[in-house]
Amino acid sequence: MSATKQESSQIKSKERVSLHGEVFTAEREVNAMLDLVASECLRPDSRFLEPACGDGNFLSAILKRKLTELRRKYKKSPHDYEKMAIVAIGSLYGVDIMNDNVIACRERLFGIWDAEYTCHCKGETSDETREAARFIISRNIINGNALTLMCVDSVGKDTKAPIVFSEWTLIGGTQMQRSDYTMTDLLLYSEEGTLFAALTEEQKEEGGVFLRRYITHYKKVQEYGE
Ligand SMILES: C[S@@+](CC[C@H](N)C(=O)[O-])C[C@H]1O[C@@H](n2cnc3c(N)ncnc32)[C@H](O)[C@@H]1O
Repeated sequence: MSATKQESSQIKSKERVSLHGEVFTAEREVNAMLDLVASECLRPDSRFLEPACGDGNFLSAILKRKLTELRRKYKKSPHDYEKMAIVAIGSLYGVDIMNDNVIACRERLFGIWDAEYTCHCKGETSDETREAARFIISRNIINGNALTLMCVDSVGKDTKAPIVFSEWTLIGGTQMQRSDYTMTDLLLYSEEGTLFAALTEEQKEEGGVFLRRYITHYKKVQEYGE
């Protein structure tokens, strides 16, 4: 790709660049950076947060790497693939202040996830599982302000609602536990570079960090909570 063509696909308008610093990272740089943490990009449950995610250049590249690895690992087991593909999508988090970027990011992640799911699981796919994936994406990719840690309205102004992230944990084979935390608390209590992982269960609950918890089959996460 020529330099000019690459630059134009990295920018939507001069106004958006000056208002929001919106310049998308090119695929080559995304992959070079992900190569630095290559083994983490293969683990389905390794969590990543892109705090100004745009339309998800990093998240979509990580998702592709994780799903490729799952495909290799669960070549002969569509059921295990399905479950672990839900874990993989649950591990990716993003925040962006621009509503159109959030919508584009969610659609992009779902498109990648669903294409792989449909291709690998063929006749064993279900719309219920697709809805579970969509729901997880809708909770993980948030229209918010990564500086104030608040959700924003349709024009990017802070609302009174804090950004809340859900931790998705597979327990007991097919049950998915969803635990919600405010982003403020996660940043306050977590060690640098970790998301959720640094806190013990006792610390999460004693510290008042933990907001609510749901446990259900991984295909039914959309049926509990908003
Ligand atoms: C430089 S772009 C990077 C997008 C993407 N991470 C990439 O590398 O392609 C910056 C993004 O940050 C978003 N943004 C700007 N200010 C923000 C804020 N306070 N909170 C969240 N997102 C913000 C913009 O809407 C834009 O999508």
